[in-house]
Amino acid sequence: MNKARLSNRQTEKLKPDAENLKPALLYSHSMLKDTLEQGRAATDAALQRLLPGETDYPVSIHKAMRHSVFAGGKRLRPILCMEAGRMVSGSLPAGIEELGAALEMLHTYSLIHDDLPALDNDDLRRGQPTCHKIFGEAIAILAGDALQTQAYEVLARLHCPAEARTRIIAEIARATGTVDGMIGGQVADLEAEHTRPDAKMLEYIHRSKTAALITASLVSGGLYGGGNDAAVAKLRSFGKNVGLAFQIVDDILDVTQTSEQLGKTAGKDTVAEKATYPALFGIEESNHRADGLVDRACLELETFGSRADTLKSLARFLVERKK
Ligand code: IPE
Ligand code: IPE
Ligand code: MG
Ligand code: MG
Ligand code: MG
Repeated sequence: MNKARLSNRQTEKLKPDAENLKPALLYSHSMLKDTLEQGRAATDAALQRLLPGETDYPVSIHKAMRHSVFAGGKRLRPILCMEAGRMVSGSLPAGIEELGAALEMLHTYSLIHDDLPALDNDDLRRGQPTCHKIFGEAIAILAGDALQTQAYEVLARLHCPAEARTRIIAEIARATGTVDGMIGGQVADLEAEHTRPDAKMLEYIHRSKTAALITASLVSGGLYGGGNDAAVAKLRSFGKNVGLAFQIVDDILDVTQTSEQLGKTAGKDTVAEKATYPALFGIEESNHRADGLVDRACLELETFGSRADTLKSLARFLVERKK
């Protein structure tokens, strides 16, 4: 285990679990830690390269984009994407980190807009003041827009066959759009505030606002890696299950963790009367559902044998995470 390469915060975060693991599992735990760390480093290096510099004119928007992108963040969508590409092709496909960076730009755009006063009205994100708190609402809106357009410029230049590139762009555009996609989910999320939605509506919100982009991250990684239709279909089912589990856990963490632990304001969902799994089902049942979804997700990858080990351990990490 190479602790020297990890920051204190990461080591601290991962240590308690490691102490409880049996020796046989310790190996895969340390491999997961390496996957998370290397994935984050590759994504960050690509983002540094692909985003306009802070001194590029007009500087205010480039500062705002970089503030939100580099404030922190787990980089889970790029990591899932890269590991999907590795699983289908047998090794990490060259240049896939640029696809990961584009996904992270889109995710960060969604966070900047999610935090705006007109949406969730949040002051804290990734342990830092939100984009609009520092740069004002107008620049924050434009920074979100700009991260979106920048992402598509990167996607248009991906180093993969043209057919895969086109399918990747269509997949991601749809997943972030209004029909069963991220924006549609955000609309339904806002419209469900102060109501008690039924389980079906709640699942629709979570699948659209969060699981859709997570699914597209896995599917696009598979396409980039040259995966066939069967492999892509498996990644899609895996993504739908882990994506929903991911948002259920986000809801749980909102009520169980502190703002300091999360790097974003805890307890906001209750105050805003958001439609969440803990609100509808309670924490225990929500945890149970998230675990069940991850079990189902992992079953989808059985046909890949040991090549699926990394994605399976990432799926477990998604529900066991503490932030
Ligand atoms: C937060 O996503 C927003 C949701 C979709 C739940 P993450 O928990 O992946 O946030 P970062 O990227 O690590 O900050
Ligand atoms: C956000 O869901 C989903 C998107 C940004 C698309 P939340 O509103 O629950 O995310 P957090 O808790 O603010 O990160
Ligand atoms: Mg929200
Ligand atoms: Mg929010
Ligand atoms: Mg949340």
